[in-house]
Parts: sequence; structure tokens; C-alpha cells
Amino acid sequence: MSLFPETDHLLPELAGRLEAVAACFERELVSDLSSVNLLARHVEKYRGKMLRPTLVIASGFAVRTGAPPSRVIDESLNTLGAVVEMIHMATLVHDDVLDEASMRRGGATVNSLRGNETAVMLGDFLISSSFRLCSTVGEPWLNTELGAMTSQLCSGEILQLSHRGDFNLDSETYFDIIRRKTGVLAGACCGLAARLAGADPIACKALRIYGEELGMAFQIQDDVLDLVGDETVVGKTLGIDLQKGKFTLPLVTHFSRCSADSRDQTIRAVERCDVAEVLRLVESTESLVAARETAEALVERAKDQLEILAECPARQLLRAIADATIEREY
Ligand code: FPP
Ligand code: MG
Repeated sequence: MSLFPETDHLLPELAGRLEAVAACFERELVSDLSSVNLLARHVEKYRGKMLRPTLVIASGFAVRTGAPPSRVIDESLNTLGAVVEMIHMATLVHDDVLDEASMRRGGATVNSLRGNETAVMLGDFLISSSFRLCSTVGEPWLNTELGAMTSQLCSGEILQLSHRGDFNLDSETYFDIIRRKTGVLAGACCGLAARLAGADPIACKALRIYGEELGMAFQIQDDVLDLVGDETVVGKTLGIDLQKGKFTLPLVTHFSRCSADSRDQTIRAVERCDVAEVLRLVESTESLVAARETAEALVERAKDQLEILAECPARQLLRAIADATIEREY
């Protein structure tokens, strides 16, 4: 269950902790209704690498070097891991409705199997379950912070929707969208885990920024893969961003660099959803390379935030996760 097997040696406890997170996740979603249980089992297949719980556990460990072990903190971190994974699942189920996507993690999406109504309600079930579970930690500030985070997340999606089909979308707005829709959740995983583990505000802030920048790099890579990825490797429906008029960094950069003729040609290719032609044009202004470089720069900035922490296996793992975020092809 570990994120990347090659990093297993960095935090030997991680696999066991992720098992505990998965068990907590499964327990929380048990219902008295078999129809709900069936859907919950389906969503468990989306869990994949458990990046977000891994960020929670690694951040908690990274700020506790030298401190005596605490069962209360360990259990709180496990619960937070399950909470953030549940929030993440809720966003994916709702996102697939918005995107009309048919495939996720190599399997059918809930909306394609059971329709939009069921998918919307399942997302709501997951989000409300996550907040019930979160309240069992007994730290009211945690619910407040997570509520603020999910509001930001939704505002990112609303901002993205308000710019659908906008060929004048600028990079500043694009970065605002991806910070809200992806960055803040990863930032919360790290910053809130650090606070739960008793870190000082400076370390909590550094870890939150680490997570936010890593999350943004992750989203840029996701956006690049939506254009250049192979569906059988990525395991989800690709090419959706163009179809849905969600213009992402490669295209935004291209429009800021290309000639008026190339702009018209690109708009026509986007309107035909001709991914190959859009790619050819975007590559002509080296905008795909530029997007990758931006993701690399975000990863470097994320890793710089870790400098204030004492060197330890968890810090090494956080560095390795940052690098892997943009190396992935899936
Ligand atoms: C992935 O976008 C989507 C997100 C990171 C956020 C989606 C959030 C919502 C739909 C709001 C719902 C919020 C709650 C709290 C239930 P993408 O389409 O670029 O990624 P993909 O390629 O994985 O589909
Ligand atoms: Mg999507």
C-alpha cells in the first residue's frame, strides 16, 4: 500500500499506518443500507496510492523527531488520514459528474455506472461522513480548518467553471484555480497534521506551504497528462479539459506566446477537440516544456520549505514524494 515502494525504507512504519487509515476509512463508511455499502466499496477502489494520508503521516512524523511516542497523537493522525482521503474521494466523485468522465483508476466512474444523481449523493455522503469522523478527534479547530479548506476547494471549482471556454484565461487566474482546487487540500494534510502532532506555528506554516506547492505541481502534471497521457497508463478518461473548455497551463502559456494566426488556428483546433493538433501548436511555442518547468520549480520551492525541519526519514520521504509528483506518468 505504500506510495512508492522504492521509498519504503525511509519510513518503515508507513505501510502499517496506511493500513490503519484504510481500516478507519472503511469502518466509517459502513451503513445499515446495502445500496450505500455497495457504493462505498466501489469508491474504495479509487484509493490508489493514498498520497494524502501519506502526507499526513509523514508530516506528523517529520515534526516529532525526538519526542516521546504518543498513542493519542498517532490515532489522531490516522483519523485525519482517513478524513482527508474521504474528502478527496468526495471531490473525485463530484468532479467526474462535472467532467462527465467514464473512467477513474482503470474502472468505471460512479456517474457512468449509476448516474449523476447517485454520484452527487455519494459525494455528499462521503463529505458528511468525513466531518463526522473528524469531530471524533475532539479538536474543534480541526473541523474549522477543514471546513474552510473544503470551501476554498469548492470556490476553486466555481472559479474554474466561471472561466469555462475563456480563451483569455490568464496564468494568474489559472494558478489561483489550481491552488484552491488541489493545493489547499494537500496543504491542509501537511499543515494540520503538523499542528495535531504539536509542532510550532512556523513549522505548521512551512508544511502547509510545502503541501500547497506540491499540490499545485501535482495538478500541473495532471493537466499535462490530460493532453499527452495514455489512458491505459493514466487509468482515467483523458482529453476532458479541452472538451469541457477547462484551459490549463500549456494552453494558457501558448496563447501568451503565439502569433495572432496561430491563436486563431489553436482556437479552431480546441473547438474541434483535436488534441493532436492542439498539442502540435502548443509544442511549437514550447509551452508544454514551460508547464513542466513550472511544475519542477514548484517542487523545488516545496522542498525548500522542509529546510527548517530537522533531517529525519520522514523529511526524506516528503522530499521523495515531491520529486515523484512530477515524475509520474499516471
Ligand atoms: C480534479 O480536477 C478535481 C479537483 C481537484 C477538485 C474537485 C472538487 C469538486 C468537484 C468540488 C466538490 C467538493 C466537495 C467538498 C465534495 P481534474 O478534473 O483536473 O482532475 P482529474 O483529471 O483527476 O479528473
Ligand atoms: Mg476531472
